[in-house]
Amino acid sequence: TPERLKQNGLTMASSTLIVDCNITDVRENTNLRCWKVNNTQVDLYYRESKRITEGIESCVPFAQYNRYTVNITFLEVKMEDYGRHFVCHAGVSAAYIVLKLPAPDSQAYLIGGFIALTGVAVSIMCIYNFFKIDIVLWYRGAFRSIGSVDDGKLYDAYVLYPKPLSGSHRWEVDVMVLKILPEVLERQCGYKLFIFGRDDVPGQAVASVTDENIKLCRRLIIIIVPESLSFGLLKNTAEEQITVYNALIQDGMKVILIELEKIKDYTDMPESIKYIRQKHGAIQWSGDFTEESQSAKTKFWKKVRFHMPPRRCPPLSPVQLLMHVLCLYSG
Ligand SMILES: *[C@@H]1O[C@H](CO)[C@@H](O)[C@H](O)[C@H]1NC(C)=O
Ligand SMILES: *[C@@H]1O[C@H](CO)[C@@H](O)[C@H](O)[C@H]1NC(C)=O
Ligand SMILES: *[C@@H]1O[C@H](CO)[C@@H](O)[C@H](O)[C@H]1NC(C)=O
Repeated sequence: TPERLKQNGLTMASSTLIVDCNITDVRENTNLRCWKVNNTQVDLYYRESKRITEGIESCVPFAQYNRYTVNITFLEVKMEDYGRHFVCHAGVSAAYIVLKLPAPDSQAYLIGGFIALTGVAVSIMCIYNFFKIDIVLWYRGAFRSIGSVDDGKLYDAYVLYPKPLSGSHRWEVDVMVLKILPEVLERQCGYKLFIFGRDDVPGQAVASVTDENIKLCRRLIIIIVPESLSFGLLKNTAEEQITVYNALIQDGMKVILIELEKIKDYTDMPESIKYIRQKHGAIQWSGDFTEESQSAKTKFWKKVRFHMPPRRCPPLSPVQLLMHVLCLYSG
């Protein structure tokens, strides 16, 4: 008896899978049509769980033959179903279906891997940026030798600060420049600073003192306050002109801009200061004038030290660094 079998009409609704088996067969045949697995009818094989069942056969009569349809319903597809032969029988003829595991999508893997790698790289960058200063200072403390490089310079930094005019005296500036800066950078960290008003020999011309000494410095530290303009600084004094000119134009010297207070408005500042702020940024003094603010280990001083030439300053051991990092992380 010629029979033709077709499996088609694959239907999947959420986890349910239905497969039709279409059979064309002569009329008045006595063939048994059913679905089998492992040579057992599925209804028998799954009689307990009823997870996989055979549908009721339907028949469409045509002039020469009948077309029968029997479907098989998987209420849920399980791992064990993959690779198994589900056979649709019609008399002696048979045809089977095999479910295949979806092939791993290599593109998805690639994209996933790429996203994961990017994520890792971004986190490392973030962590590095967050702890950059600690890492660099720790590295300097651990691996740099104590001696400074022999570059012919005498000082680590020239300190340019607003000189009080008569009457408008800001004690914070003096405390900062003459007390705290030397305490932290010189005494605790071993840097050498040139501070006009402290290190110059009285009687010398400002211009020549500045010009001589700025050339002997590795950094230029500029201290500004919101009222800088009303002080002597930033009024294009000879000292300011020479130091800034040397730092920016001649030497390409690094400039460390320290704001003693938050400066909201830079519009009135000289172009050179605006330029320095834009290019190097500014460090804002966050402490008060108490003892705690005079430790090289505070955030503010770490930022300053980060921009200063490498120097072995209160060395942190790797364990200390780790503890510190963990504290910051959990804090
Ligand atoms: C199988 O049978 C169903 C209904 O009996 C019908 O809709 C479908 O088109 C048939 N498929 C083929 C390939 O003949
Ligand atoms: C398939 O049937 C044979 C007997 O015909 C039996 O030994 C075997 O365990 C069955 N396999 C499964 C997976 O049920
Ligand atoms: C499967 O067969 C049953 C009859 O047993 C029928 O009610 C159902 O509609 C069929 N499903 C499909 C998707 O053809």
